[in-house]
Amino acid sequence: MAEITEDIEVAAARLRAGELVAIPTETVYGLAGNALDARAVAAIFDVKQRPAFDPLIVHVADRASASACVTSFPEPLAALADAFWPGPLTLLLERTGIVPDLVTSGLPRVAIRVPAHPLTRALIASLDFPLAAPSANPFGYISPTRPEHVAAQLGDRISLILDGGPCEIGLESTIVGVEEDQIVVYRLGGLAVGEIEAVVGPVEVRSHSASNPAAPGLLARHYSPGTRLVIGSRSDPLPDPDRAAVLAFAEPWADVTSDRQRILSPTGDVIEAAANLFLAMRELDALDVDIIMAELLPEEGLGRAINDRLRRAAARG
Ligand code: TXA
Ligand code: MG
Repeated sequence: MAEITEDIEVAAARLRAGELVAIPTETVYGLAGNALDARAVAAIFDVKQRPAFDPLIVHVADRASASACVTSFPEPLAALADAFWPGPLTLLLERTGIVPDLVTSGLPRVAIRVPAHPLTRALIASLDFPLAAPSANPFGYISPTRPEHVAAQLGDRISLILDGGPCEIGLESTIVGVEEDQIVVYRLGGLAVGEIEAVVGPVEVRSHSASNPAAPGLLARHYSPGTRLVIGSRSDPLPDPDRAAVLAFAEPWADVTSDRQRILSPTGDVIEAAANLFLAMRELDALDVDIIMAELLPEEGLGRAINDRLRRAAARG
């Protein structure tokens, strides 16, 4: 079983030895390895059971240390990096030859981000290589927002989890790139589109096009619990209320007992809802029920990203 520690020296030593370590970030926990070591990167794919066509994000200490991995930093993306790094923003940039093909699945761009969690920042600063890290969950399942979520699912496949407590944001980073002169959001996430537009002007949100080969993690079905999850609303009749659980935004539903409901934010705050989303999905998934009914949030701010996750969790096949 993986050891859980707050000691970044131990984590750094394992990573230098080519091993994998689960790391806290402000978004979700990551499964990290040396991004420049193709063997460590291959181990990440193996532990996660992740298909090789789904590339990894490279985590760096700051913009300057990204420069070894990227050929250039187009102006609008540099402005976003200045505004939001460290933070829940991943940028797609032309890669250099030191980035192993496996990291980008052979794509010409590499995904780069500067995470904001203090422990992981200190860890990365103590290493002389960047960290490749996908979310630390088995492929297709809900991302972990607490060390015990990582332990429960990957604890027998990795040796160390760096304990940074619960993730503050709770949704994966927003992924942004530029095509010709158009700024494109490829994955909605912990940084709201409105905040990005306030810096660079209007962007195109393309996160729903599952046919786009560059589209990040955009398999229709993703972030899924084991129990069937269905998008619904409180006015829908429930076939069997005793066998149903509810994921509600601000207020409980009638007909379902409170132990089978999770309220994401009693005050209706989407930021709080984001921080609670994945924990609530896991808790409901652990119940003996046949169906999880999930309510969509207002399509504003992080509500958009939360709804994106709920729709993917509900997608079948
Ligand atoms: O918040 C996050 O982004 C977390 C933490 C650990 O940093 N990481 C994360 O990684 O969510 P992952 O692997 O679960 O999702 C990253 C997504 C993938 O779906 C992948 O398709 C996309 O980023 N991606 C990575 N590199 C890419 C590239 N070169 N081009 C297009 N998409 C890329
Ligand atoms: Mg993931």
